[in-house]
Amino acid sequence: LFSGPVDFLRSSPQLQFLPDPDVPEIAFCGRSNVGKSSLLNALTGRRAIARASVTPGRTQELNFFDVGRPEKEGALPLFRLVDMPGYGFAKAPVKVVEKWKALVNSYLRGRAVLVRTLVLVDSRHGVKEVDRAMMKMLDEAAVGYRVVLTKTDKIKASELDKVAEATAAEIRKHVAAYPELHLTSSEKGMGIDTLRAAVVSDALG
Ligand code: GTP
Ligand code: MG
Repeated sequence: LFSGPVDFLRSSPQLQFLPDPDVPEIAFCGRSNVGKSSLLNALTGRRAIARASVTPGRTQELNFFDVGRPEKEGALPLFRLVDMPGYGFAKAPVKVVEKWKALVNSYLRGRAVLVRTLVLVDSRHGVKEVDRAMMKMLDEAAVGYRVVLTKTDKIKASELDKVAEATAAEIRKHVAAYPELHLTSSEKGMGIDTLRAAVVSDALG
């Protein structure tokens, strides 16, 4: 499915500019620099459809990507992936951070077509307070999510085991029906096929 066309649809710096809520959406959230844009690229098999960067705070709007563009002119795509600004970014001005936070939170709370959120956690750092707050907010908004450990190529297998275990325990503590955990490396491709299949089933199932 993802081997079909993926198109950049639009960038929404404000809530009133969202696309019409006409197809299912899967959103990517997590701390700044955790690897959201890179994961979106890896899942779609596109090198740089979403812009990734070493500088935290790269993504500053909600970016919508159409997956499965129909052949018929004007027909709807199968679903959309939504790349979002990161949270917990201390270097941006407070006002800017507040603006991103309000945008992300109101999107996550109020978007009727949002079928699943991916909560990304850097495997080197594990779950942080801001991640707990995000999961709690999603729980309260009744938005289902998957937790994705990123950049697993950067740590040793033994450390990855430990962080995966700690993350699984963390998830169980904070969520009623606890979500699935995925171990991924966008750089090396680890876990990408499995996550892609899960995302497709979330979107179309
Ligand atoms: P913001 O948009 O700023 O919130 O960041 P982001 O979460 O979109 O992160 P992005 O995808 O831009 O990646 C941040 C940095 O981490 C980039 O330098 C990426 O190349 C790097 N990175 C992302 N995923 C991986 C991975 O799986 N392995 C390694 N080694 N580096 C990665
Ligand atoms: Mg980004």
